[in-house]
Amino acid sequence: MSEPLLRVEGLAGGYDPVQIFQDISLAMPANASIGLFGPNGHGKSTFLRTLSGLIDPWRGDIYFAGERLNLAGERGSRRFRNFNYDAVRRRRMNPKQVARAGLIHVPQGNLLFPEMTVEETLSVAPAAAAGRGNAKAQLDQVHRLFPRVHERRFHKIRFLSGGERQMVAIGVGLMAAPKLLILDEPTLGLSPKLRHELCAAIQKIRDAGVPLLLVDQDVEFLQSLIDTLYLFDHGRISRKIEKAEMPSHEEIMAMLFGAPAGGIDNGVGR
Ligand SMILES: Nc1ncnc2c1ncn2[C@@H]1O[C@H](COP(=O)(O)OP(=O)(O)OP(=O)(O)O)[C@@H](O)[C@H]1O
Ligand SMILES: [Mg+2]
Repeated sequence: MSEPLLRVEGLAGGYDPVQIFQDISLAMPANASIGLFGPNGHGKSTFLRTLSGLIDPWRGDIYFAGERLNLAGERGSRRFRNFNYDAVRRRRMNPKQVARAGLIHVPQGNLLFPEMTVEETLSVAPAAAAGRGNAKAQLDQVHRLFPRVHERRFHKIRFLSGGERQMVAIGVGLMAAPKLLILDEPTLGLSPKLRHELCAAIQKIRDAGVPLLLVDQDVEFLQSLIDTLYLFDHGRISRKIEKAEMPSHEEIMAMLFGAPAGGIDNGVGR
């Protein structure tokens, strides 16, 4: 088997001193997409923030496209150099380096700047692409995928609806020419109709050859877009499910929250 695009080994992390997730290992083959599904507040977004270097891992390693992303002494702050030997030796993350490597994270709740226009917002992202891709072609792709974004390109973000902002946020991710695109709860707060449209657009992104790491509360939405689903429970991966053996929504709920009666094996610890 070829080298996985993303390989996570024994990863643990959180917000010092509170540990949020532990012992996460997973491998994402090239050209496959994966989903994480689990209850609110169990650490999915914290895990994703750790993958993209927004916070440092406490233990474990992250390999992406054959390189280790958490490197001894990274993050580059002079404050730590020479003063704190432990911080220099720790395998820290440099989020700019992560984006340059092509691991692009669209965070939960689209954190866009309200006073920037759509066009300005999209124009900033190619700086993260480090010479990969072609900004003009990427912008055309975003406009084709999301005609609403094209229509509203001269408007400020603060005048857009939640759905339009979500489309712009995904557009920003695409403008950074991702080798892997992480989308954290892209359907959050969207109507069923918009959810459906967004699903079709994300499917097209996938078909254009961009592997996805998706987190969402809508398990049917996830199942339609991914090859492997990981159940995320109390900061751990409790189960890995391949597309071919995907259980029903009810069975997944029973795995995570326990069966009401009769007892379905929840697979924890496997
Ligand atoms: N910046 C922060 N500082 C301290 N604790 C935080 C911070 N952000 C989140 N937390 C805590 O970390 C835990 C995990 O939160 P996280 O956002 O990772 O969960 P989640 O699984 O993504 O939830 P949701 O499905 O609601 O998005 C929660 O208890 C949350 O309160
Ligand atoms: Mg979250």
